[in-house]
Amino acid sequence: MALAPTVQLRSGARLPVLGLGTWPLHDEEAAETVDLAIETGYRLIDTAENYRNEKGVGEGIRRSGLPREELFITTKFNREHHSTDGVRRAFEESTKLLGVDYIDLLLVHWPNPAQGRYVEAVQGIAALLEEGLVRAVGTSNFKPTHLQDVIDAGIVPDVNQIQLDPQRPRIEERAFHNEHGIVTESWSPLGPGSGLLDEPGVAAIAEAHGRTAAQVVLRWHVQQGLVAIPKSSNRERLAQNLDIFDFELSGAELANIYLLDTGAADIVDSDEFGH
Ligand code: A2P
Repeated sequence: MALAPTVQLRSGARLPVLGLGTWPLHDEEAAETVDLAIETGYRLIDTAENYRNEKGVGEGIRRSGLPREELFITTKFNREHHSTDGVRRAFEESTKLLGVDYIDLLLVHWPNPAQGRYVEAVQGIAALLEEGLVRAVGTSNFKPTHLQDVIDAGIVPDVNQIQLDPQRPRIEERAFHNEHGIVTESWSPLGPGSGLLDEPGVAAIAEAHGRTAAQVVLRWHVQQGLVAIPKSSNRERLAQNLDIFDFELSGAELANIYLLDTGAADIVDSDEFGH
């Protein structure tokens, strides 16, 4: 069983470059899927307060029997926790539900700029990092302007998790992240809906390598230094999504995949939407 390679974060923690997304699994599905994913070789598991499945994710981790320290567990909190004390409460609630005593990567789920407290939220995570309760500081759905505010306050997050796939490759955001040493993590890496996987351009590359369209798209992510967290609760698809570390896309193939960029916006605008 091959594990995904890891990338070193600014904090020193090592993040697997391919992991399991768990939205929208409810507790029992999450428990079964997480257990199966760990058996398949997944070590990075991504959940959130808002998914309401942290209890199930924790149950799956226990069922797997794998020692806690071999896993990289990430969760996120909602806007009512955007304060130093609030982040601590969020951490306590998540760790209780997950049944763990530390979180590898804790993320601010949405910036909620109208509330105006995302910098405090990141500072709250940084305080937990100092105490060794989290291993890395994360943001999610932050635009470069939001990240700049955080950086101006003296903290550079380790990871920013954003919606990213070949149809919306987020070039400017990635350039900003790279400039600051922030790792980009792609949510919905296979694209929303099935359209991307049906693209003839992807199918041609998949056929040339004897791979599936999903494997080609996930390879596109990791080969460019992105971390991808596809969700699947199907045994076969879980296995194929992790089986992408023994082939390589050529420069021409990567360029062809960039032709799929539709200029599409995110499905939601994080200046407007957030919880
Ligand atoms: P399934 O769980 O039935 O495999 P997200 O955007 O949240 O990551 O969701 C990914 C979607 O893509 C899910 O609906 C998942 O369905 C599907 N999916 C995951 N892996 C594959 C794959 N290898 N091939 C086709 N569809 C996939």
